[in-house]
Parts: sequence; structure tokens; C-alpha cells
Amino acid sequence: MKILIKGAKIVNFDDIIEGNLFIRNSRIAKIGEVSEEPDKIIDAKGKFVLPGLIDMHTHLRTPGREDEEDLWSGSKAAAKGGFTTIFCMPNTRPALDNQGQVNWLLEEAGKIGIIEILPVGAITKGREGKELSEFGMLKKAGCLCLSDDGNPLEDSSLLRRALEYAKMYDLLIISHCEDKNLSASGSLREHLISSKYGMEGIPWASESIAVFRDIELARYLDTKIHIAHVSTKRSLQIIKKAKEEGVKVSCETAPHYFTLTIEDLEKSHFHPNFKVNPPLGNREDLEAIREGLKEGVIDCIATDHAPHSQGEKELPFEEAPPGVVGLELAFSLSYTYLVKAQILDLKDLVKLMSYNPANILGLKDKGYIKEGAWADLIIVDLSRSWQVLPHKLFSKSKNTPFIGHTLEGIVEFTICKGKVVYTEKGKNG
Ligand code: NCD
Ligand code: ZN
Repeated sequence: MKILIKGAKIVNFDDIIEGNLFIRNSRIAKIGEVSEEPDKIIDAKGKFVLPGLIDMHTHLRTPGREDEEDLWSGSKAAAKGGFTTIFCMPNTRPALDNQGQVNWLLEEAGKIGIIEILPVGAITKGREGKELSEFGMLKKAGCLCLSDDGNPLEDSSLLRRALEYAKMYDLLIISHCEDKNLSASGSLREHLISSKYGMEGIPWASESIAVFRDIELARYLDTKIHIAHVSTKRSLQIIKKAKEEGVKVSCETAPHYFTLTIEDLEKSHFHPNFKVNPPLGNREDLEAIREGLKEGVIDCIATDHAPHSQGEKELPFEEAPPGVVGLELAFSLSYTYLVKAQILDLKDLVKLMSYNPANILGLKDKGYIKEGAWADLIIVDLSRSWQVLPHKLFSKSKNTPFIGHTLEGIVEFTICKGKVVYTEKGKNG
């Protein structure tokens, strides 16, 4: 298949150029004038072409909770949101902690073939934090990174060994930073608001204590480490300083941490769709996250897409599981609250959502639009807005605090390895 994208503004993290883009089979064949006849022409005048988005942190509930999300619905949601590559976290049932599980998942993902689903293996068997999984086998099966996400590794000596083995096998450890003894059974940030309603809170130090320990180990061992879903000002101060001192630490945040605070949770009357782990912080945290994105202390925006069934999200706030869906909203939330708000420019957004994740995970020929790279591309119209309506979401779960919100910027086409995998209704290119 040959596709010609005509007259678009082509955005990379370092440059924006206007011109034509020619796709042959699965790769970008040419940027500029072409004489070859295409099979399909997409007129993209006035639109922007971006590298396909890469999500380092998605929860697809396969295997175990396919009623909440499966590989098919998750792929459709990802494509609609502009993601062409997603990494799925191993907190499934059973956990993705061995070669057989990972092989099976990749085989199932291959049968769907909408976008690329890549596995995150578990650091420890059953994600129990007791015994390391077989890193060599997980690497051989196709894992590029490992995480016990949802659980921190409480045993520092086990994390030390995990980091050493990860270095040996060139795997990235993605760390869920939380001191479980401090967060205990809290369900929101410890704050005047939690006290006012007599609810058990999670102190901000629960995250940064773990961030500090993990970074200290990475420093000691001279290894890489990636910190998942950073949500506090203090964590960012620690990460910034460590980066300045040369520690090989990278980190991500998620859109809800630069758009919402605990005040929004109160205004929602403690709706479980505002419950996430780590919990929403205060205004200072939100400002620090925005600043961290601007300064480059935060390397990526990941979704932490965490689908939950309506039944479970209708439980009282304290009992409901944490998590929000994010694949279909992340781009527009980031565009609206960061680019439109003039905190970042479009190139910065491409860096945070595509170029940096590709680099951190060593994905070859992804995250940058150039001749010879995979034709993983999205076409977006930034002059249009859309309303978040639950029945319009492709994800099986609808647990988002943004229902009813109007967001700017819309994905019109998603192309993965040269194949158009999503087209907005009414667009035919
Ligand atoms: C995650 C989930 O639902 O899988 N939820 C979340 O709020 N981030 C797990 C977790 O990290 O707690
Ligand atoms: Zn997590």
C-alpha cells in the first residue's frame, strides 16, 4: 500500500516543516515531492502530522479481566487516541511473569494487529515482591522493560538485585514508588480536605521516600531506572537533583496529575472516577508537574490507562479501585492543558509523548518522522474540539473524571506501520 499525505505540517521534537509525506508499505519512503502514484491520498492541508504516540504505561486487563478491557478494545482505544505503540503492565491475572505468558500475549496481540502492543514483564514472581522472575527468559520472550506496577518493591536488597540483573540483560526497571506502610489503606491525599471529611489520607512523603531510595540504589549501582506516574512536587525535586548529578533516572507523569487536584475531587463529591494511585495532589504539585514537563525533568507523558468496571467504580469512594482510562484522552488533555495553555509547544509534546519514550525503551525507527522510519503517524486537527462522552469511548470501561468536558485537538487518522488503523467518522482522506 502506498499512501500520500499531502500538504501537512510535519512535526518532530526538533522541527516543523510543511510538505508531502509518502508511505510505501510499512515505512516512510519520502518526505517532499514524489512522482510515484499512490494507492491512497490524504489531503492534510491545515493539519499536523505527528509521530505515532507511544504509551509506556497502559493496563490492558488481558488476561483475567477482559470484561474491563481486552487486547481488541484496548487497541481500538489506543488507535483512536493516537497511540501506535503501547506497553501493557503485568498486573494481570495471572501476572505476566514468565516466558510462556509473554509469548501467549504477544501471539494474541499479533492476531489483532491494530497497533503494536509490547509486554512489560513482572519483576517478581506473581508481583509478590519475594522472588525475582527469570529476567533472561523475559528478555528472550520480547520484554524491553519490567515492573511490578501497582506494587512497590519493598525489599531494597531485592530491588538491588533486580537492577543488577536488569543491567546485565539490558532491561529497564519501571518503578512504582510508594511506601505501602505510609499509604496504608488511604484513598486520597492526606490534606485539610481528607481531615475535614474524616477520610484516611496518604501523605505525599509516601511517594518521595520511595523515589529517593530507588534513585539512591540506581546511583550506587550506576544503573538506569524509570520512575512511573510521578505526582508530587517533592519527588520532582529529588529527580531533578539526581539528574543534575548524573544519575541515570528517567520519569513519567500522567495527564490527571497536570489537570486535576484534590480540590476537584472534593468538588466531585468524592466520585470514584477521581480516585487514582498515586492520589491527586494539591495545586503546588500540579504546578510543579507542569514546570517539570516544561523544564524536561519529566521525560514522558504516559496514560496509566487503568480500566475498571462500572460496578466496581460505583462502590463507595474508599472501597472503589484506583485508576482512570486515558488512552483516548491523553493527547487532547495534553494539548489543551499544556500547549493551548502556552506551557509547552507542539514539538515539546511530541518529545514527551513519542520521541522520549522511544529513546528510553530503545525502540528503533520510532518516535521520529524521517525517511526509512516506520510509518507510525497520526494526523491531528488542532482547530477542532470534542466532548468526552462515555458512549463514544472505544474502551470497554468509561471511568474517567473528564466526562462532559470539551477538549481541544482531535486525532483524525492513525497510521501504524503504513496501515490506516483509525479514521475519525466522516473522514475519508
Ligand atoms: C492501577 C490499576 O488499576 O491497574 N491503578 C492506578 O490507579 N494507577 C494500579 C496501580 O498502580 O495502583
Ligand atoms: Zn502504578
